[in-house]
Amino acid sequence: LASLEVDIGNLQPGNCMIVKWRGKPVFIRSRTEDEIAAATSVPMGELRDPQADEDRVQKAETLVCIGVCTHLGCVPINGAGDYNGWFCPCHGSHYDTSGRIRKGPAPLNLEIPPYSFVDDTKLLVG
Ligand code: FES
Repeated sequence: LASLEVDIGNLQPGNCMIVKWRGKPVFIRSRTEDEIAAATSVPMGELRDPQADEDRVQKAETLVCIGVCTHLGCVPINGAGDYNGWFCPCHGSHYDTSGRIRKGPAPLNLEIPPYSFVDDTKLLVG
């Protein structure tokens, strides 16, 4: 399967880039300290699809997830919604800064693709 090398050297905290991998959008978000704190402070009992933030990231400051809503497949909007993560405008699903579903019809968190860090500024998706 094809891997995609992505240069994240210019990605500023709070920003999100979208790359295409295997025909799907992949979000790469450089998280701010506040966004990391929001993601790590949620009690598991509040989550519909319980997953700790640290199990979803390799480095706290970089979240990588597939940009396909787990409801019916729309592409959620970055930096929007009640939890400041992503908002899916199709039927109103709200994801948090860890890409976890928090409100709305989607059943599952945004999926994490296989990826690895080549170095501090390069990521290999796939
Ligand atoms: Fe995202 Fe329905 S496809 S809420």
